[in-house]
Amino acid sequence: MGAAKSSCQGFLHYAFDYETPKTLVVPSIAAGVVFRFTQLLILLYLVGYVCIVQKAYQDTDSVVSTVTTKVKGYAVIKGSANTSSPQFRDVADYVIPPQGDKSFFVVTNMIVTTNQKVSHCPEVRYFQVSYCLLHVVYCVAMVSSWPGVRTGRCVNYSDTVQTCQVLSWCPLEEDTGPNKEALIDAAENFTLLIKNSVTYPKFNFHRRNIMPHINSSYLKTCVFNSSTDPHCPIFRLKQIVSDAGEEFQVMAVEGGVLGILIDWTCDLDLWASQCLPKYSFRRLDDNNKSHVLAPGYNFRFAKYYKSPEGTESRTLIKAYGIRFEVIVFGTAGKFSMLPTLVNLGSTLTFLSLVSELIITLTQLGELANPNPNPITRTAS
Ligand SMILES: *[C@@H]1O[C@H](CO)[C@@H](O)[C@H](O)[C@H]1NC(C)=O
Repeated sequence: MGAAKSSCQGFLHYAFDYETPKTLVVPSIAAGVVFRFTQLLILLYLVGYVCIVQKAYQDTDSVVSTVTTKVKGYAVIKGSANTSSPQFRDVADYVIPPQGDKSFFVVTNMIVTTNQKVSHCPEVRYFQVSYCLLHVVYCVAMVSSWPGVRTGRCVNYSDTVQTCQVLSWCPLEEDTGPNKEALIDAAENFTLLIKNSVTYPKFNFHRRNIMPHINSSYLKTCVFNSSTDPHCPIFRLKQIVSDAGEEFQVMAVEGGVLGILIDWTCDLDLWASQCLPKYSFRRLDDNNKSHVLAPGYNFRFAKYYKSPEGTESRTLIKAYGIRFEVIVFGTAGKFSMLPTLVNLGSTLTFLSLVSELIITLTQLGELANPNPNPITRTAS
């Protein structure tokens, strides 16, 4: 009986006795100053970094967007203006693909090979040596995928040079590299209209880069300029390239990739009208001539024709040019209770940790160097 009663009391004491830690008051100005100073630092961190810089009281969402583009302008191919057959080009000739994607290519330079037909012809060689004298061996054994199927015969390429015969689209393209000056230099004056709609789904927020305050007469005449017309959605290609720190006519020779970045980072706690796109431009491909082996950007495409007799021919175009890529990014933030509480809580925990740490350090110090009369008191 007595044993059971005392174990029951023991349990009651264990469960319901009120416990309180003893607080140690350290009569040390140095420890107190360090303690207060650390608290001050943490408060500054809370107000300055967490609240103002990080905006940790906000919930965030990433942008969802769609982009369409339209290029306008025309060009007369360089050097053809004063000849008997000036070559005129417009948007259907030089913008690929034509449907106004957020990534599109503007042809600025090219190598054109007209009237190619499937037949036999000599391979193109750029050095003046006949290399197929042992043709039976050489012209069959050297397998290459470009420019066509070797027949094993050695034929006249020019008066002095013989090369292997191939089955291919003939005559073959003579690719000695791009023109040293861009053929479609007038591309620098082409204009680009960007239409961009963005949504922040979490906040049900929608926006266009053509804003309500832009009227149609402004839209007809404006051209983007980062300081005077930063919200005009019409860009001159030359301006885009020079804002990216490049020279249009230099980049046009071998081509390249250029990014048009639209930043929609917004604080939706401010007036929503403050949420405006910020444009910036940047060359995306590596153009450092010293270590780039295959510089620029080019590709080949062909246009096909059929004569009334039914023979097929094509015009092969090796196009050099600038690929523009519109890249939209951004996050929006708006006040929300949950992140506010979480961040407040973690900072308060931080504060109490610091006092724990200082007490531990002081106690360690006392062990090493005992204070004759430490003051202790019970926490209230
Ligand atoms: C582009 O336009 C400017 C001004 O209209 C003109 O001076 C320049 O020659 C044009 N560039 C080319 C390559 O045609």
